[in-house]
Amino acid sequence: MKALITAGGRGTRLRPLTHTQNKHLIPVANKPILQYALEAVREAGITSVGIVVGVDNGQEVVDWFGDGSSQELQITYIWQEAPLGLAHVVKISQEFIGNDPFVFYLGDNIVVGGINRFVREFTDRTVDCYLTLARVRDPERFGVPEFGRDGSIVSVVEKPRVPKSPFAVSGIYIYGSAIFEAVNSIEPSQRGELEISDAHDWLLKHGYKVGHGEITGWWKDTGLPGDLLEANRLVLSNVQVQIDGNVAASSDIAGAVIIEEGAEVIASRIRGPAIIGRGAKIVDSYIGPYSAIGVDALLQKCEVEYSILMDRVVVNEVDVRIEGSLLGADVEIVRSQGKPRVQRFVLGEQSRVEVI
Ligand code: DAU
Repeated sequence: MKALITAGGRGTRLRPLTHTQNKHLIPVANKPILQYALEAVREAGITSVGIVVGVDNGQEVVDWFGDGSSQELQITYIWQEAPLGLAHVVKISQEFIGNDPFVFYLGDNIVVGGINRFVREFTDRTVDCYLTLARVRDPERFGVPEFGRDGSIVSVVEKPRVPKSPFAVSGIYIYGSAIFEAVNSIEPSQRGELEISDAHDWLLKHGYKVGHGEITGWWKDTGLPGDLLEANRLVLSNVQVQIDGNVAASSDIAGAVIIEEGAEVIASRIRGPAIIGRGAKIVDSYIGPYSAIGVDALLQKCEVEYSILMDRVVVNEVDVRIEGSLLGADVEIVRSQGKPRVQRFVLGEQSRVEVI
């Protein structure tokens, strides 16, 4: 079995972070989102992985993951000239996949608990296509299945105005070769994309067997940058304590806290679940639950909770707690010096700041 993972698209919903970064490399609990997909397929025993990247922002992904040897995987990159749809992604990957069954994993999805169960069910039930479903509050944002009387899926519609069930088809699919017949038969949708839901619906209408299983612990970006904080919470909720860095006796650490090698915690309180990245320094500060502090960050005399602070962020002497915040790499929030005390901002396009 092989795996095909997406890392293309433009990531417009996660701006401003995606102005300067491919969204699949945004860190969640200090790992790029895409890393979770790679780990899930590796745990399912798959080593041959194709990653589909866009010509405009794919090189970053290649530079980060290389040939995959650091992940114990063999990675082949497949270049997509424009985001023409998920069925288009499958179409251009036919040569890489050959006749093997494969997992199609959308690289902006995170699944806690892995995919082994689904791979097993795909094989045991000898289906042509296996869809993972999740119960959601807003199915109209997703591909939505409709069920027949026997509980099997009878149709799939992409982002329907009136959903026929409270389920979303999540971004983890398993296919046999029939999917290529489907993606080569469908036409672009009104928004000009070859929709993966149309390919699924084509399989159903042409007598192929489509199985499904329900998934829990699933996350996918649904619109707002703040949604990343939810992914961070989901992943951190499942971590175990691991202290590899230096914790000075003056500090107080409780709960599931990961302190990576070379990190230093001095005269501070950390309440897990939280992760402090390699080489970060936390001095005289409070780090509350669901916080991820990036590599080489420097936090002094501040309070942070339920936030993602990326690599090399500096926060110095800020007397209001930073909460529900996303700070990109190299961002600095420091106390203004001198008189008058003012608030001074240097913010890139589409940044957002809330002040009190
Ligand atoms: O996450 C589940 C949903 O993913 C499904 O319920 C929908 O049926 C499916 O169409 C898809 O919907 P989205 O609108 O959320 O897809 P999005 O455009 O965000 O793309 C998902 C991933 O695929 C992301 O990693 C970007 C990448 N991508 C997307 C397109 C359209 C590509 O690499 N190339 C593309 O052409």
